[in-house]
Amino acid sequence: NWTPEHFIQSTVERVRAQVGTGHAICGLSGGVDSSVAAVLVARAIGDRLTCIFVNNGVLRKDEFLKVQTTMREQLGLNVVAVDSSQRFLEKLAGVTDPERKRKVIGNEFIAVFDDEAKKIWESSAAGAETEKSAGHEVAWLVQGTLYPDVIESSSVHGPSHTIKSHHNVGGLPADMKLKLIEPLRDLFKDEVRRIGRDLGMPEEIIERQPFPGPGLAVRILGEVTAERVAMLQEADQIVVDEIKKAGLYRKVWQSFAVLLPVKSVGVMGDQRTYANTCAVRAVESEDGMTADWAPLPYEVLRTISSRIVSEVRGINRVVYDITSKPPGTIEWE
Ligand code: XMP
Repeated sequence: NWTPEHFIQSTVERVRAQVGTGHAICGLSGGVDSSVAAVLVARAIGDRLTCIFVNNGVLRKDEFLKVQTTMREQLGLNVVAVDSSQRFLEKLAGVTDPERKRKVIGNEFIAVFDDEAKKIWESSAAGAETEKSAGHEVAWLVQGTLYPDVIESSSVHGPSHTIKSHHNVGGLPADMKLKLIEPLRDLFKDEVRRIGRDLGMPEEIIERQPFPGPGLAVRILGEVTAERVAMLQEADQIVVDEIKKAGLYRKVWQSFAVLLPVKSVGVMGDQRTYANTCAVRAVESEDGMTADWAPLPYEVLRTISSRIVSEVRGINRVVYDITSKPPGTIEWE
């Protein structure tokens, strides 16, 4: 007889007892899981939780600002936002292999996260007190790991998931041990959503479709450049916009655009074009482990296609992906 109220109450009590007077940090992605985990822990320890939100240069359009505003103003979280997009894009230059992209982003994320965690630690009361007492203060790392993440272990998606099992973040002061809090590790996504609703979190966050850690980098086939990120951000926004307008956003598990390394000939007015191809992907799924391609209405596909071709510079052709998982994966990389 599991209920969200019981879960929230017992989790808040447990976290409060565990953390005591200590401090916790939490990496926010803007998604449901990390937000719900952060709000739960904030209920337990208040502003002794600091959240870190990193712009890795491959977020969706306007996401870096939107997420900060939501997390601070609607969820009341204490958020440190770090724009490291330049640094990530430099590291991604010339990288085309999917696993290599994940590795680069994963490593860079850990480096940025460590730097910020160290700063928070040094400026926090806990840091100062520990120095004085030379004790072994324990700091906590909050992660929004779900049950399927626990099963589908880190090896599946490579190093971008590494942070999920990254117990001891490197580069931190030796006496600052990070211990893991994973309040959602027994839950499935639908349960996390129920808890988020019960916590009074806005539907806009609760309903969010999953978005991969390595972000748009695994939806840009070939090299990730600032120009291609901007192009895909525009196309992605149109897809999500139209899916929402059609009332399908909650019905599909994920819906997005993929930028292909394929150019083809087209015609615009009386001009010949030679530009990029964009694939649209929409799938229905329970948990992401298997998925069916979504039979989107032709009208929705028509609008998505004509809007992308007319509004996104550099894309002159749109195709629809009709592959289920298995044998396909949801993402293209
Ligand atoms: P695939 O493409 O393997 O994706 O069918 C299954 C689910 O996992 C997400 N995904 C990722 N999430 N880091 C993540 O955090 C990753 O590297 C990654 N790759 C895929 C994908 O969006 C889908 O929800």
